[in-house]
Amino acid sequence: MIENSLWKRILFGYLAIALFMLAMSFYLIFRLSYLNKVTESVMRADIPFIENGEKLMDSLLEQVRNEKKYLITNDNAFLDLFDKKKREFLDRLKFLEESVTDREKETFVNQIKELHKKYLSMVSKGIILVGNEEIIPHDTRYEDEKKKTLDQLTESINRLILATQTELIKKVELFQIIGYKSTKISLIIILFAVLFGAIFAYVFTRSICLPIKILKEATERIAQGDLDYRIEVTSRDEIGALGTAFNQMCKKLKEMDQMKTEFVSNISHNLKTPLTAIREANDLLLEKIAGPINKSQMKLLAITKEETLRLTMLINDLLDISRIEAGLMRYNFQYSNIQDIIRKSADEIRFLAESKNIHLRWVKADFMPQILLDRDKIAQVMDNLLSNAIKFTPSGGMIKIRVSEVESQNTPHFFAGQNRLNNVHSFIRVSISDTGIGIPVECHRKIFDKFQQVNNKEKGGIKGTGLGLSIAKHIILDHGGDIWVENNKGKGSTFHFTLPYRYDYALNC
Ligand SMILES: Nc1ncnc2c1ncn2[C@@H]1O[C@H](COP(=O)(O)OP(=O)(O)O)[C@@H](O)[C@H]1O
Ligand SMILES: [Mg+2]
Repeated sequence: MIENSLWKRILFGYLAIALFMLAMSFYLIFRLSYLNKVTESVMRADIPFIENGEKLMDSLLEQVRNEKKYLITNDNAFLDLFDKKKREFLDRLKFLEESVTDREKETFVNQIKELHKKYLSMVSKGIILVGNEEIIPHDTRYEDEKKKTLDQLTESINRLILATQTELIKKVELFQIIGYKSTKISLIIILFAVLFGAIFAYVFTRSICLPIKILKEATERIAQGDLDYRIEVTSRDEIGALGTAFNQMCKKLKEMDQMKTEFVSNISHNLKTPLTAIREANDLLLEKIAGPINKSQMKLLAITKEETLRLTMLINDLLDISRIEAGLMRYNFQYSNIQDIIRKSADEIRFLAESKNIHLRWVKADFMPQILLDRDKIAQVMDNLLSNAIKFTPSGGMIKIRVSEVESQNTPHFFAGQNRLNNVHSFIRVSISDTGIGIPVECHRKIFDKFQQVNNKEKGGIKGTGLGLSIAKHIILDHGGDIWVENNKGKGSTFHFTLPYRYDYALNC
């Protein structure tokens, strides 16, 4: 069952980021609306309050000025102006009284009210006297009292304005604090969103890319023929399902490969007996034991003999490969001299080389190394390498065989693993070079796989099974050696194989 599927994870990631953004937006909206309220209260209450306070002061000064002018000039115009300013003062005071919000300001307003009343009552006395055209007696106590009342009144108005201004300043400061706080919190939320986004993107991309990389490597391994390779499925999402499907595909491939191998093996076995009978019958006919034959019959029989021989070789190769793949290849290891095996193989093939006008040269080593090996199998490798060299070398060419001892650290690791036989000090290296058609570098590994032949069709349609090098590779690897090919500087290619020569016995156990 698929769990924690990818789309759920993607949805979760995007939802989380969207939530961060939503939280930030709500917070900012809430803060802005609060700031709006504060601004509105400043615009609606505080600023008109201060304005009225200032005008209150102006109208008081106007009252005092007009009162004095009236007392001096006895001109009723000043009295009217005084009255007008008095009403204006009282209106403004009423406004202030209605819009006052706290106790401190309320006290000031009440004080102003009381003091203004006092001032008016003091003033009215003088006005009445002047109106009756009486001389106002000079009374310093009365003058001082009036002056004191006026001073107290102006002070109260000033303190009321100051209190409102202080409140305004506090609100502006609050503005700044809210602005600073909102910026800070928005930045923190953005930082969290970015951090979460980055971590989410990293973890999510990794959780997809890593399994894809593993899948890619696994596909490469399968493409290289390692059908036993399996992926470890750890997740239960879509990628995990892909991994399970991949493993099922590999299992199926392996089963099909086994079926194919068994099929080839069965067919080869079943073909071997009738083929032997055909060959024997062919030989009997050729030897004229079954009766006389004419020249053209002889020619035809020679062709059938050659073709049945090729068929037998193909079947033998197929049986070898099936045995190797089934792990049933048996070896008869014994200490033998590698030079003996080379000499035998070279002698057997010399006739074929000479018939193609190819010079076969064997550079004999001056030592006779005894190596633990299976004579027949190493001879099979030599035969295939030499027959290949002859097959792919045009007439007039040359094939050279060399044997040398190489230090373990100087041998390349082509198919054998780096740590394989690390107790081996030195190897015997056999090299067969030719002046043939050569092999493209990109095919140097591929030609050791079964049924792989390179450009043979274009290069003269040379026949073969494509199994020889694959069998040789398995035989050499089973001996603890390695096999590889190099391009010659001039023309052709050189095949090398190594066999362990000097090693520590104790470590080998
Ligand atoms: N000496 C060589 N020169 C050029 N190509 C070679 C040589 N030896 C092998 N090859 C290439 O490697 C392929 C595989 O060789 P092998 O496995 O022996 O199969 P076969 O000889 O049956 O074709 C050959 O078909 C050929 O394309
Ligand atoms: Mg061959």
